Amino acid sequence: MTTPKTPVAGTASDSENPTAANPAAADFAAAYPVRPVPATGPVDTTPIATTPAALEELDGLWQAVVHETRTRGNDIHLPISLAFAERLCRAYPDADAELVRVATLLHDTGWAHVDESRILSEGFAGDWRKAAIRYEHEKQGCDVARRVLPGLGYTAEFIERVCGIIDGHDTRPVARSLEDALMRDADRLWRFDQAGIALASTWFKMDPATYTDRLAAEIVPELITQAAHDMATADLNRSTALLKTAVIR
Ligand SMILES: [Fe+2]
Ligand SMILES: [Fe+2]
Repeated sequence: MTTPKTPVAGTASDSENPTAANPAAADFAAAYPVRPVPATGPVDTTPIATTPAALEELDGLWQAVVHETRTRGNDIHLPISLAFAERLCRAYPDADAELVRVATLLHDTGWAHVDESRILSEGFAGDWRKAAIRYEHEKQGCDVARRVLPGLGYTAEFIERVCGIIDGHDTRPVARSLEDALMRDADRLWRFDQAGIALASTWFKMDPATYTDRLAAEIVPELITQAAHDMATADLNRSTALLKTAVIR
């Protein structure tokens, strides 16, 4: 009944036990022992284009990071991820939605401040989650958050909570809070939409059929919440039908 369906400690490739080594992650795992984490609010599995992120209060933040959106498809990836983040927050009303939204909007802005030539060569090849450039984009993303958020009225304490999620969002194998988990799931969910498949399959140098096979085999099991599982599965079914991946392979 409470047996985790996916490893609470994170990906199967983790040789150590990162949850035990991380007290916050251990607390989160203890607080949410059922995996994927069941939703307590409504789960919307319709195409994400039907519920864009519409909160005008984040427009000032978007305007502050326009430069950062012009790298690595962030002007596509970040708005779609934010829309998924807001949807996930409705499914998990216990989460601090403002924290999830701001962390998701900013999480990859650091890509604009690393050596762009290394993004595809290192960030999407080989053991890409452990590439040095991945750590660099997380650190740079925190710098962006600390630069733009104070002028928009966010408190120092809130900004450090945002940075606590951005720092390690790709490289730390475990989530440390529900908000951290929702940002991670939102970051993955955009890949299941046609726009995400179109962009990310080229980054990984895969055709759509190969890429969507990989989404099903590798990314779905990484999703932490049941709502994200449901959204991913619905999107994957729609996208593979639309793109005829059963035939074009
Ligand atoms: Fe990232
Ligand atoms: Fe991302």
